[in-house]
Amino acid sequence: MKARVLSHLAVVLILSSCSTVKEISPEGEQQPGPVTQPAAKLTPAIPAEKLTKPTKPAVVLPKKPVEKVPAVVPTEPVPNVPVPPKVEIPEKPVKPVVDTPAKPQMPGSRVSRVSVSDKVVALTFDDGPHGGLTPRVLDILGRYNAKGTFFVLGKNAKSNPALLRRMVSSGHEVGSHTWNHMNMSRNSRGMIEADLIRTNEAIVSACGVTPRVMRPPYGAGNASLASWVKERFGSTTVLWDVDTNDWRKPGVQTVINRAVNGARPGSIILVHDIHKSTVDAVEGIVKGLQARGFRLVTVSELMNKGRSYARKPAPVIPATPAIPAIPSVSEPEVPAPVSIEPNPVDNTATVGADSSPEGEADQSDSAI
Ligand code: NI
Repeated sequence: MKARVLSHLAVVLILSSCSTVKEISPEGEQQPGPVTQPAAKLTPAIPAEKLTKPTKPAVVLPKKPVEKVPAVVPTEPVPNVPVPPKVEIPEKPVKPVVDTPAKPQMPGSRVSRVSVSDKVVALTFDDGPHGGLTPRVLDILGRYNAKGTFFVLGKNAKSNPALLRRMVSSGHEVGSHTWNHMNMSRNSRGMIEADLIRTNEAIVSACGVTPRVMRPPYGAGNASLASWVKERFGSTTVLWDVDTNDWRKPGVQTVINRAVNGARPGSIILVHDIHKSTVDAVEGIVKGLQARGFRLVTVSELMNKGRSYARKPAPVIPATPAIPAIPSVSEPEVPAPVSIEPNPVDNTATVGADSSPEGEADQSDSAI
């Protein structure tokens, strides 16, 4: 029995040792697998790269904050925006106000009617001279011994110099109407100055006479501009108090009636010598005015009469007491010898200078 027991034990021992060997071998095969070892190597490699990447964005970050800084600054002034506009608004009106006081400093720089004692009027022709129509006007005025004033465009003066010479030799007056019908209220002083110089040079070149009067196209421009023109060029800005609206072509008889019936002593009548219908009315206008006892003179003659009428009292004052009656009567006329910029000034220069009939007519015809 003992031998059997020992043999069994021996077998058990042998089997147990064999099972141990079998169990070890599978473990040994798993251990050599590369999975565990590379995993340990990758882990440290990744953090190394991650450390490098964060360094770059760190450099970019400082740039972003720089951009954010200015973005923050504008946001702060935004709430202040309502404040600056309030400051700018009062500044702009202040400048025009500064110009305004200059208006009364140049009395006589802008005229629309002249206060005179005689029955004299000035018939004025704008936008010419017209090669075909203006000669007819000159014929009519010469026939009735009437004088007129022609506010010519510089470009037309240049192309019709003979007509300007005829005007001057016939006793008419030549005035400036800018080179090409410039709207003075829409141009700088520099532009206006250059335009008037060019126009005057064309007029002088044509007829040898420097214009003493200037009519702004559309009647545009304020009293400050008129003062400047007077100082710079010595020219009086001449508007009108009788507008025939002839450019609308209301009919020859209507134009005649408006001119003749609207006139009063010292009136300045506006027509255009570039419209046939107007030229057809000129003879009726001249005859009608003369029939009313008016004498047709140039604008400068009209203004001189106004001034002379105002100056009469001055030399008389030192005289004897019998004469004071004369100056006392004339004195009230002294402050307003020349009607400067009354109704028509505001109407033409301020109230829609662009919608002014004079301007529209001129624009359409100036192209001709
Ligand atoms: Ni005009």
